[in-house]
Amino acid sequence: MSLHPEATSTNELAALDPVADSLVVADHQTAGRGRLDRTWETPPGTALTFSAVVDPGLADHDWPLLPLAVALAVADGLRTAAGVSVAVKWPNDLLIEGAKVAGILLERVQADRPLAIIGIGINVGLDVEDLPVPTATSLRIAGADVDRTAVFAAVVPALGAILTALRSEPSAVLERYRSECDTIGREVEVHLPDGELLVGTASGIDRHGRLVVGESTIGAGDVVHVRPA
Ligand code: BTN
Repeated sequence: MSLHPEATSTNELAALDPVADSLVVADHQTAGRGRLDRTWETPPGTALTFSAVVDPGLADHDWPLLPLAVALAVADGLRTAAGVSVAVKWPNDLLIEGAKVAGILLERVQADRPLAIIGIGINVGLDVEDLPVPTATSLRIAGADVDRTAVFAAVVPALGAILTALRSEPSAVLERYRSECDTIGREVEVHLPDGELLVGTASGIDRHGRLVVGESTIGAGDVVHVRPA
């Protein structure tokens, strides 16, 4: 494991020389990256920001399940460390009472074999005035008095466990994701990468991990939960 007092982005650092089964942790990121080319900003000392480099050992057609599986692992880790009630919003946002507490940025890099860089950002000790956007929250705001080390110590083994499960039985992990994903059954707005907006009811997750909304099947996008259908 490498621990950096400051890094641009742990995903960026991990990608410079990706080594399977390594962890890159930053006490603070100066250029944290989010999904869909967004930034991920947190004040120093408040968030757990790290990247795990793994060889998931998956067939290419199962790689799209990896971001979903990681969401289940982070949810498990947060429940264990902080005792909070966490929901998963497709594809891999973790919500507490509808507000985002953690996000995941998964990137595939080619080393001697394809490796996944799993970047995880968890809002641990942010106060309301620290929140980068009003739709975010933190474990502290949710009433959990827990430090970043305890969260890290719960999330890393949960990640190991889900990767083992995904390797041996991807369909079972997908089934678990379907039963836990809070997006299913909701009316949603999906902001697609090309700028289009799709509105409809999320009816399921297909076998490639894509979200089904009405007649459309979505592989990437930013989902807003409007209300229960
Ligand atoms: C998102 O929800 O948009 C994903 C956020 C991912 C943030 C984490 S923090 C650690 C790792 N390094 C980064 O630059 N991003 C991820």
